[in-house]
Amino acid sequence: MNITVAGTGYVGLVTGVSLAEIGHRVVCFDIDKEKVMTLMKGKSPIYEPGLEEMIIKNQTNERLTFSFEPNIAYSNPDIIIIAVGTPGNSDGSADLSYVKKVAKDISKYLKKDKVTVVTKSTVSIGTNHKIKLWIEEDANADLKVDIVSNPEFLREGTAIYDTFNGDRIVIGSENESAAKLLEDVYRPFNLPFVHTDIESAEMIKYASNAFLATKISFINEIANLCEKIGANIEDVSKAVGMDRRIGSDFLQAGLGYGGSCFPKDTNALVQLAGHVQHSFNLLESVIEVNNKQPFLLLQKARGIVGSSFKDKKVAVLGIAFKPNTDDIREAASLILIKELIKDKAIVNVFDPIARHNVEKVFGDLVNYNETIEETIKDTELVFIATEWTQIKTFTISKYKELMKTPNVVDGRNCYSLQDMKKLDITYASVGRKTIIRENV
Ligand SMILES: NC(=O)c1ccc[n+]([C@@H]2O[C@H](COP(=O)([O-])OP(=O)(O)OC[C@H]3O[C@@H](n4cnc5c(N)ncnc54)[C@H](O)[C@@H]3O)[C@@H](O)[C@H]2O)c1
Repeated sequence: MNITVAGTGYVGLVTGVSLAEIGHRVVCFDIDKEKVMTLMKGKSPIYEPGLEEMIIKNQTNERLTFSFEPNIAYSNPDIIIIAVGTPGNSDGSADLSYVKKVAKDISKYLKKDKVTVVTKSTVSIGTNHKIKLWIEEDANADLKVDIVSNPEFLREGTAIYDTFNGDRIVIGSENESAAKLLEDVYRPFNLPFVHTDIESAEMIKYASNAFLATKISFINEIANLCEKIGANIEDVSKAVGMDRRIGSDFLQAGLGYGGSCFPKDTNALVQLAGHVQHSFNLLESVIEVNNKQPFLLLQKARGIVGSSFKDKKVAVLGIAFKPNTDDIREAASLILIKELIKDKAIVNVFDPIARHNVEKVFGDLVNYNETIEETIKDTELVFIATEWTQIKTFTISKYKELMKTPNVVDGRNCYSLQDMKKLDITYASVGRKTIIRENV
């Protein structure tokens, strides 16, 4: 099958490369020429375990090519997969302008009389029908467009693994032959198919993300309550998660959810509900809890250092919104850093992979470091914002050895309370008792 994938971000690139890996001829198209040039050289512009090796392998066997020229990418494919961004508008709704541009490019450059257009981008309900109209209104009259909603569930950091080992492939379509074509494309992955109408497929993606976000905000609220009543969230969430009706995933208390999906998709669903006069009170609370969570940690930290960070050297360990990715979009760490800068702290930061993206946001407003040791040296407080393995396995006695005043505020509960109690340091985490060092 000849497939063009529009957008070479986390979703588009992983999708394109994986489809080449299972035998299709794939063109990955992006308007970002620099990104495409990097890809042409066999380099991945994003960090995703296993991705670069797979790019090189499929370029070599000539199943995978990259292009920034729409006249080439859209001239002859059987299938076009849309995987461009759908960021949030200021009112929370999904910005569909990138998707619309793809639709317009398809009608302009496609030289065939039949095409199946598959939407992987997360789009508001009804968008797939609009995509069909956007293509058809400018295309020649005999073009037959089949549209399929095929939402994506991969997780950054395990995106390749998820593509080959996902829980289901959702195919929302209005005609059987288009659904069958998609089954043929994806069959080598050997995953279960779920067939729905287009609107249900669009809703499945929002409902899934909203539910996972709800789990996170729920456990964070329980954690905040645990602190007040003297319970331990680690024990609570472990036992709650052992109930198979609940499950242990997404029950880790912390700084809250971030990334390019949960924040924008929860906001978009609230917006979408509003448009049909439905108040989604539950989801509004989930968002509110998540927005507050980093500020609770900041409040704790201010209490420890004595009201303000002014002129104090503070370290932030981990900037990516979660481990194993270089994506920092909507990361809770960014809120911490912005508040520290506002308070005129001297900010040291460390992330094993995401530094290049952090530099784009903060420039010379913070100090970048290559090791955890350098980052925490002579500081008066350390925030932990991402549970990278390097941070979880760091020799904890070094906090005491290297910091000016050993105050650690752990937004991801990386260490056991028992271990931290053995050190003479102040250690605050989420949903657990704060350990106060002697002689404070
Ligand atoms: N990142 C995830 O984990 C994830 C998971 C599931 C679903 N999604 C959804 O998938 C979509 C893509 O997300 P992402 O994280 O891959 O985005 P991204 O920002 O990483 O990549 C989007 C890419 O699209 C390109 N682009 C923009 N306009 C274009 C156009 N007209 N033609 C071709 N390329 C164009 C951009 O240059 C960019 O490279 C979003 O709707 C997102 O909500 C993301």
